[in-house]
Amino acid sequence: MVEHHISTTGPPVHAWAWRLDPEKLTIAKTEFESMECLAPATIKGSVVQVLSSENCDVDILDNGRTIRDFIDNKIKELGSADNDEPFYVASLDGIFEKHLRWRTNLPRVKPFYAVKCNNDAAVLRMMSALDTGFDCASKVEIQLMLSLGVTPDKIIYGHTTKPLSHIKYACTHGVHTMTFDSEDELLKISRCHAKAKLVLRIAVDDSASKIRLSSKFGASLESAAKLLGRAGELGLEVIGVSFHVGSGCTQGLAFKQAIADARRVFDTANLLGRQMSLLDIGGGFPGTEDCQVEFEEFSEVINGALEEFFPPDSGVQIIAEPGRYYVDSAFTLAAKVIGKRVIPEDMDEHSDVEGSSPDRIMMYYLNDGVYGSLSCLINDPAHSSVDPYLTRVVDSSEQRFRSVLWGPTCDSIDKVKDSCWIPELNVGDWLLINNMGAYSICASTDFNGFERAHIYPVVSTKTWHALNLPDIYNIRQ
Ligand SMILES: Cc1ncc(COP(=O)(O)O)c(C=O)c1O
Repeated sequence: MVEHHISTTGPPVHAWAWRLDPEKLTIAKTEFESMECLAPATIKGSVVQVLSSENCDVDILDNGRTIRDFIDNKIKELGSADNDEPFYVASLDGIFEKHLRWRTNLPRVKPFYAVKCNNDAAVLRMMSALDTGFDCASKVEIQLMLSLGVTPDKIIYGHTTKPLSHIKYACTHGVHTMTFDSEDELLKISRCHAKAKLVLRIAVDDSASKIRLSSKFGASLESAAKLLGRAGELGLEVIGVSFHVGSGCTQGLAFKQAIADARRVFDTANLLGRQMSLLDIGGGFPGTEDCQVEFEEFSEVINGALEEFFPPDSGVQIIAEPGRYYVDSAFTLAAKVIGKRVIPEDMDEHSDVEGSSPDRIMMYYLNDGVYGSLSCLINDPAHSSVDPYLTRVVDSSEQRFRSVLWGPTCDSIDKVKDSCWIPELNVGDWLLINNMGAYSICASTDFNGFERAHIYPVVSTKTWHALNLPDIYNIRQ
């Protein structure tokens, strides 16, 4: 157990403590005594007043029940109801733990959660209870956050390329902070949102990231002076700089270089006689423990670079737009075997694969696939494979068979896993897949008429009370 004590900068809060268990993050009892500092909006009442508890149910893990107990029960329940749909379990504690970790490691950086990553109502409510801001990419995302009672000052419209009608919507609903990276975007904004507080997104080196964004977004450093000048001519205010090192970043130094680049733009603005006050360091943070670089390592590099280029006395407010970091590990997907085919090995084109099972290859068809929750397999290079595991206990002596896992649709690209070695499964067996919270539900379809996976949010009793969640969610009956 390692004990961390932090006192945050910014608004005065009490010091608080939490313990990091290397196996599993757990929250020590003590910190609940001074939990107010974590959710001021909730405790002080603003969220309580504005968030309606309609339509958002959670299950409470009381009496020592674990997430695994919940899943096992749910599987039984669905079985007796003849329900063949996949489902997620979303751990609100997992999100809370990530927030504690963020506050501990990046105390100067206020998170604006990237709604696009996972827009489930339970997730958004939790983030709101934790008093984060929100990064929205469109009118609908802004609408969603406003409908949950989030105030416009807590929203950054973080898309550089916005339809005119969406900019108008932002304007009439008080969302002023928005990014841009071109003269044409400035022209659009000047036509309908003269009060906008603009953030110039710059292109940074994203070569260390699995999903690169700089080929599509971000002004070059060379063009920054011209864009700042043009904004001035149009009477628009530029308050800061943003960047995104790419999603699934694998090198902390990418942040250091990007922060140094942003400093150059601040200096350029100073030479033009303008003072900027906001730095947005984007997303790209790891969402799971098995990533090449740990969150703590990124944080160390970021804190060092902020100290060097934007020390606290620079007066620059630092924000970030994490998506994957907050939600990936909080979601577990449960998928059921709905079909099975046993292929004699001499009929299979891979029959000469070394070590293949003596006489057969198993084909299993699951109730979820790449058109549903597992679209990451084809469109998220940061999550290009999954490791499903059986819900039942597997004896090490059990024979394994080479198996292929398919999704439920009629399309042959709907393949979940090629050639994994697992014990024999039967129709009706369930598999679990961890780390399914990022870019999954928001990118899934109902192609072929297969329903999207249902989401069951769960929360422990202590988090339920500590964050005053009864005001935000309904307990599922
Ligand atoms: C503008 C912007 N901000 C934030 C994010 C979230 O990034 P991540 O999930 O890597 O933290 C993205 C993801 O594409 C993005 O495009």
